[in-house]
Amino acid sequence: MLTVCKHPLISVKLSILRDERTKSKEFRESLDEIASLMTYEVFKDVEAIESEETIHTPTGVTLPKVKLSHKIILAPILRAGIGMVDGVRNMIPTCRIGHIGMYRNEETLEPVEYYFKLPVVENPLVVVVDPMLATGGSAIAAISAIKKRGYKNIRLMCLVGAPEGVKAVNEAYPDVPIFLAALDEKLNEKGYILPGLGDAGDRIFGTK
Ligand code: PRP
Ligand code: URA
Repeated sequence: MLTVCKHPLISVKLSILRDERTKSKEFRESLDEIASLMTYEVFKDVEAIESEETIHTPTGVTLPKVKLSHKIILAPILRAGIGMVDGVRNMIPTCRIGHIGMYRNEETLEPVEYYFKLPVVENPLVVVVDPMLATGGSAIAAISAIKKRGYKNIRLMCLVGAPEGVKAVNEAYPDVPIFLAALDEKLNEKGYILPGLGDAGDRIFGTK
């Protein structure tokens, strides 16, 4: 299950991210904005339900307060996933944030888990966020770690994906819908997405 979130504003901002001249500040801002725009698509089918709480309009009408049917947990894969949190949280201020510490061993490309903490809530919908879906190893390891703790309703929200990563996640977890801003061409011999945008973590945090 793959949805590529197509929108002219996303295309314009993605082109800023792909540009090697874009500095960390503008990179973070554009990533934030794309994450906000993608939120519309990622949560489109979550129900808005009338709760028992009421609100009063300035015109004197009483209405049930409308809430989302699920408690939303955002689960960024550290580090780069942090770069998509604020964009989603600006749209869903009530969402809870978990953290999944994982990095790719640069030689084997295998993911290594070093931290895991998700909030415990009723009726959770966990959205794993990470800008890059390359081989899919990190996303698969993150989803596996989340499922192991008993969470069932999971989505994966990435910025740029390679076909290899999409296929791997679909095969490992066909029940997890994937949302991307762009499906790129392929991976290079070092496991980087082409055309991609380089190392997302380094560009967000200015580490290179
Ligand atoms: C990057 C990216 C993903 C992973 C994708 O993280 O943010 O988590 O690589 O690659 P994969 O699909 O082949 O697993 P990285 O390991 O570079 O760590 P960082 O976020 O700390 O920079
Ligand atoms: N991680 C990145 O940051 N970029 C890629 O292209 C692949 C993995």
